[in-house]
Amino acid sequence: MKVTPWEVSGAIDYEKLIKQFGVQPLQGAVNDRLHAVAGDHYLERRGIFFAHTNLDQFLSATEKGEPVYLYTGRAPSGPVHLGHLIPWIYAAHLQRTLGATMLFQIPDEEKFLFKDNVSLTDSKSWAFENILDIIACGFDPEKTKIFLDTEYAKTMYPIAIQIAKKTTASKAKGLFGLGMEDNVGKYFYSCMQSVPAFLPTVFEGKPTRVLIPCAIDQDVHFRLTRDVAESLGYPKPATILCRFLPSLEGGGKLSTSSGTSINTTDDEKTVRAKINKYAFSGGKDTVDEHRAHGGNPDVDIAYQLLVFFHPDDSFIAKVAADYRSGALLSGELKKLAGDAVWAVLSEHQARREAARAHVERFMLRD
Ligand code: TRP
Repeated sequence: MKVTPWEVSGAIDYEKLIKQFGVQPLQGAVNDRLHAVAGDHYLERRGIFFAHTNLDQFLSATEKGEPVYLYTGRAPSGPVHLGHLIPWIYAAHLQRTLGATMLFQIPDEEKFLFKDNVSLTDSKSWAFENILDIIACGFDPEKTKIFLDTEYAKTMYPIAIQIAKKTTASKAKGLFGLGMEDNVGKYFYSCMQSVPAFLPTVFEGKPTRVLIPCAIDQDVHFRLTRDVAESLGYPKPATILCRFLPSLEGGGKLSTSSGTSINTTDDEKTVRAKINKYAFSGGKDTVDEHRAHGGNPDVDIAYQLLVFFHPDDSFIAKVAADYRSGALLSGELKKLAGDAVWAVLSEHQARREAARAHVERFMLRD
């Protein structure tokens, strides 16, 4: 298994990741407190959000009625796919229930610095496309601020250099696995990703707590943020961390570069065809064998799509039981996964088109 902000591959062992990353499992008292203030959501109930850092301090602030912020981001270099939507769907839920201001960073320099074939112009044009997807997730225009690093730099830069001064090259090298041949922009980038964790304190003029919903691979950036926060006069940010939506072939994470990801702009036929063609099946080789011995939903990607996108627990439980017993066939399960994914995407696409007229309401500029 390999999990870094730039690469996720292999069979992911989440228990092991919790230890490796030094983060906390999301369970017990802190989980109860989260429920009490943020309500119930299937992504958290099913353990798709499964770990956190510093959530206790963030919850204390919300319990006291202090203003709190949410923060997440998206580095643009291509279309948004199903996996990206997971933290954003939960972030929009948290915004609704907590009444929090959402900061959405678009680091349009990130992929430019880390990939050979992405120009700044490319990432800027993808930024606009990706912002439509972000808005389509249902964020509140009154309380959501989206900004591009190259545009909002005038405000971000003075904070970024404070962070940079507290961060040695050897620390960045260790955290991100960089080498001497890597460009110096890569060494600096994480400072830019840390900045929005401190902006709430700047905006409010007093120490203000922020919660970052994201996939676990991003936590390493926020380790750097946590390490410098207090010495710069900012509270440590909290993170709430989710699992990866597996690739259709199984393992790793869904990724655009694989060529088989389901993108938010795919039409119904394409979505169903990709699931039918690529989704790894936990079913048996023949119908007779399957009817006799049943399939394994845990490794079945069509079933995983239901777990990530179908909000009804009793439906999921019935599908799993029927699949195990052999009553439900692999092709039938793929059809159910296609129905669920298309139900989410068809609504998403309508909201995405409607968003075109409202982008400016969300943008934050210096
Ligand atoms: N590095 C993230 C990416 O590769 C983008 C990002 C910026 C981000 N700030 C964030 C992700 C905060 C999660 C939380 O897409």
